[in-house]
Amino acid sequence: MPSITYVHTDGSREVLDVPVGTSVMRAAILNSVDGIVAECGGEMMCATCHVYVEEAQLPLTPPQSDDEKAMLEFTASERKPNSRLSCQLVVTPEMDGLVVYLPESQV
Ligand code: FES
Repeated sequence: MPSITYVHTDGSREVLDVPVGTSVMRAAILNSVDGIVAECGGEMMCATCHVYVEEAQLPLTPPQSDDEKAMLEFTASERKPNSRLSCQLVVTPEMDGLVVYLPESQV
């Protein structure tokens, strides 16, 4: 099962084994990872599942849809080139070892 690392703003890390086909957001919610709110439950209507993907690993992630790009305008924390909505990061075998950084704030 691919392993996904969530890095908190204090530098602490949580590592989860995430089934292929589960989103980075869903795995965080199911495992009570602080820092992901996901108010809309993955409908791409809230931007409270914002994460920063480790830049070197961006090629492992699926391309951004126009809807995701638009919703990233509404993140509470600064939008950066490596910003993604974690509900749109559906885990594939290639994403094993992915590291995502949690933002300062989601709301
Ligand atoms: Fe709402 Fe991702 S959970 S946009």
